[in-house]
Amino acid sequence: MKIAVVTGASSGLGKAIAAELQRKGYTVAAVCRRDPGFCDDFIAADFSDPASRDAGVAELKKRYPHIDILVNNAGIGSYATWEELSEEELRREFEIDFFAPVAITRGLLDELAGGCVVNISSAAALVPVACMGAYCAVKSALRAFSQTLKMELVGRNIHILNVCPGRIDTGFSSRAVGGRKPPETPGRTASNAETFARKVCNAAERRRRELVYPYWYRFAGIFARMFPAVTERANRKIWKL
Ligand SMILES: NC(=O)c1ccc[n+]([C@@H]2O[C@H](COP(=O)([O-])OP(=O)(O)OC[C@H]3O[C@@H](n4cnc5c(N)ncnc54)[C@H](OP(=O)(O)O)[C@@H]3O)[C@@H](O)[C@H]2O)c1
Repeated sequence: MKIAVVTGASSGLGKAIAAELQRKGYTVAAVCRRDPGFCDDFIAADFSDPASRDAGVAELKKRYPHIDILVNNAGIGSYATWEELSEEELRREFEIDFFAPVAITRGLLDELAGGCVVNISSAAALVPVACMGAYCAVKSALRAFSQTLKMELVGRNIHILNVCPGRIDTGFSSRAVGGRKPPETPGRTASNAETFARKVCNAAERRRRELVYPYWYRFAGIFARMFPAVTERANRKIWKL
């Protein structure tokens, strides 16, 4: 029996990844606050609360002596300037988007021997976006976690895949913190959650290091590093700063 653990499987990208893993024959355990209803197992945990998160990890260890794939997908966003975002909001975002995946991965290393960890970072880790500074920072931290952990875990034969998705309409921005949310544009983003989920599962199977999706965000990242002044001007225009 192949076991997958997917955090944030109750909506959006996590839901699509969990469904794709089920289609591929995995038994899927969901970890989040709301029961997704379609997964094979559900463990309730609130990642903004370290005690709840750690109880979730303890429960996973009790139920699953071996885990083939862990998908650290649960996350929240924020659309606010650094000045607008409160320290409490900033800490909550780091608790859910960074400290939770780090704690869950560290807590399950023995169970993951020979398996794979997929961290859902963001294209915001590649391209600086004004009014999303905290999100850029937290997803960059998660990407750095993936890149360095991969080297450290080589002896345990645990593969790490970092994923940088661009914008996919899931309702994510409407659930984000802050007053500068962009409008949802259903059907107008570059991809849908199901196509994205297939790409993620294929990349994990092929043991790729990183999936940037759509791929052109990688070039956008290189452009932003080479031409910072142009990137800054574009950001100021888009966000009316
Ligand atoms: N959609 C995009 O355009 C996009 C682009 C780049 C990166 N991403 C990343 O992709 C991941 C999934 O995003 P999405 O678009 O699918 O968002 P979503 O539809 O809002 O789903 C977020 C998931 O995270 C879980 N979650 C949120 N707060 C939680 C908490 N306190 N404790 C436990 N679980 C929590 C939610 O489950 P419960 O509410 O049941 O707890 C939900 O299942 C996130 O990490 C996001 O940063 C998304």
